[in-house]
Amino acid sequence: MILVTGATGRIGSEAVRLLAGRDLPTRALVRDTSRVPKDGAWSGVEVAVGDFDRPHTLDQAMRGVGTLLLISPSVPGQEIAVIDSAVRQGVQHVVKITNHKATPDSPVDRRRDHARIEAHLRASGLRYTLLGPNLLMQNLFAVAPMIKQTHGFVMSAGEGRFGMVDARDVSASAAAVAAAPAGHVGRTYLLTGPELITYADVAAELTHALGQEIEYRRITPEQHREAMVQAGLPEPVAASNAQVFGLIAEGDAAWLSDDVASLTGTSPRGLRAFVTDHVDAFR
Ligand SMILES: NC(=O)c1ccc[n+]([C@@H]2O[C@H](COP(=O)([O-])OP(=O)(O)OC[C@H]3O[C@@H](n4cnc5c(N)ncnc54)[C@H](OP(=O)(O)O)[C@@H]3O)[C@@H](O)[C@H]2O)c1
Repeated sequence: MILVTGATGRIGSEAVRLLAGRDLPTRALVRDTSRVPKDGAWSGVEVAVGDFDRPHTLDQAMRGVGTLLLISPSVPGQEIAVIDSAVRQGVQHVVKITNHKATPDSPVDRRRDHARIEAHLRASGLRYTLLGPNLLMQNLFAVAPMIKQTHGFVMSAGEGRFGMVDARDVSASAAAVAAAPAGHVGRTYLLTGPELITYADVAAELTHALGQEIEYRRITPEQHREAMVQAGLPEPVAASNAQVFGLIAEGDAAWLSDDVASLTGTSPRGLRAFVTDHVDAFR
């Protein structure tokens, strides 16, 4: 049995669909059953109701599980609780979605958080595989309302290039590892799209797809932090996001890897495919 946490999220929901499509015994951990897809995409999937903050619900969901696909908003206490439950329930292998630059001394809090969780996972004695995606293309949905209203978006990543990856390819990579974990013990895979792009390229692709000029309005990380707070993001999240965009401007995410293709046997989707598939979200 494969248990997927964060199953209603961007990476998890598609991973569940792919695992079920391979007829692998799959269980999805959800907080709220109304979030289970109603279109049959999860046909044959067991649904376990649970919450990272309620360990007994995790223990129930973990019974009989061999492989855990661990996806969460990466709050250390929550993921550590899931790992501890996996140890208690005799899970054999954990596939964890992490950050591509998770180090204990990172200047970025979410990267330090992932490093702390990774350290706990290593010390747990469980077999594990780490998957570190570059920026997700699906992050672009956050600026869709601004694009619809103003035919442009603000961003503080300058001309920094990044190896943006479609979350569907992260899901496919995760499903491939979870389906046959024995060949991936102790390995770390870095997941990217096929090309290095900038936010100017994002604006150009959206312009092409929408048939209307979409402007990339360059702002500083400090202006971006203020704009995100104004838009309702909690201050620490806005500060952390702005910090990451400042790093991207300096080339922090300007790297590519072949790991999606080697795990899935299929080349990752590029930005044009993502925009084409989701153009209505930006219209
Ligand atoms: N965004 C990026 O560019 C990027 C890049 C690299 C790595 N990552 C990593 O990717 C991971 C996030 O994946 P994602 O984007 O697929 O996540 P997501 O779409 O934000 O979904 C989060 C999932 O966690 C569930 N969840 C939240 N709190 C919970 C709780 N207390 N108990 C049980 N479930 C809970 C949510 O359930 P509900 O539906 O009920 O809310 C949802 O299914 C993070 O570790 C992040 O660091 C992201």
